[in-house]
Amino acid sequence: MSNHLIDLKDLDTEAMRELLHLTDRFVEVCQRPIPKVPALRGRTVALIFFEDSTRTRMSFDLAAKRLSADVLDFPTHTSSLSKGESLQDTVETIRAFGVDALVIRHGSGGLPGDIAEAVGETISVINAGDGLNAHPTQGLLDAYTLCQHFNGAAGTQASLSGLHVGIVGDIKHSRVARTDVAAYSSLGAKITVVAPEALVPDDVSEWPVAVSNDLDAVLPDLDVVGLLRIQKERITDDSLISIDDYIDRYGMTESRADKLRTEVVITHPGPVNRGIEIADAVLDKRPNVLVQQQVTNGVAVRMAVLFRLLGSGIEID
Ligand code: CP
Repeated sequence: MSNHLIDLKDLDTEAMRELLHLTDRFVEVCQRPIPKVPALRGRTVALIFFEDSTRTRMSFDLAAKRLSADVLDFPTHTSSLSKGESLQDTVETIRAFGVDALVIRHGSGGLPGDIAEAVGETISVINAGDGLNAHPTQGLLDAYTLCQHFNGAAGTQASLSGLHVGIVGDIKHSRVARTDVAAYSSLGAKITVVAPEALVPDDVSEWPVAVSNDLDAVLPDLDVVGLLRIQKERITDDSLISIDDYIDRYGMTESRADKLRTEVVITHPGPVNRGIEIADAVLDKRPNVLVQQQVTNGVAVRMAVLFRLLGSGIEID
């Protein structure tokens, strides 16, 4: 694994397993009465988010603090970018403070990779979501959550072999879909993406997945139903999607949830459009919904990533 984490496609299965096994260690740390270790004392992590975020930003912040690193939170809306300073000069300025890692979310696909190339091996760059491209820590936490649910933990040989995962919804505009496919396929899962024609990516034939437009036909064969948010902000032609039709054909309504086998689990990366991708009563009351577990695991996964990139030669505790 390089000094950066830009896309799970850059990791082979062994590198992904190593991160997931490291996550087992940090799940244990997070369950301690004092969930904090000194591992990254003296290191500094900068959070640079050009797109809004609740889960990713707060969990990177918490992960760095639980590793005893210092956190610099870059205020994108009140920074000198508004005075015309370039992003490149902004990154150089932050680097001059002596930070060890940049965690970057940006609407432009490829931008964190470009920054990683520019800074070389001097500091680590972690992609916290870039356009429609990738969201590697989300893919890791989703894969970890499935390993934990079905196998108890990731262990040294994390595997999703034997599971059929459906990824349902706005596949076309979803960096999470692209990243989950990379994670799940690397760990051996069978994957079907399910979406209305208008939300299927043009290049889906190159993905290691089956494709369906009919959720009810696929549902009986699934072990995992991975729901995605309808990304209204990225759908440029509203006429392509009727929300009522979407709920009717793809929503996890109570009646659809009633038909699931008891061992089938439902995931969603959040934020959720309640009443569209999933009914309130399913999200709030069904035991097979792993959404909160995904959020909880996000902290341990991000601790593992930060420790792997910044903690070379250091003991965890
Ligand atoms: N899942 C996810 O990336 O959520 P946030 O946008 O809240 O970080």
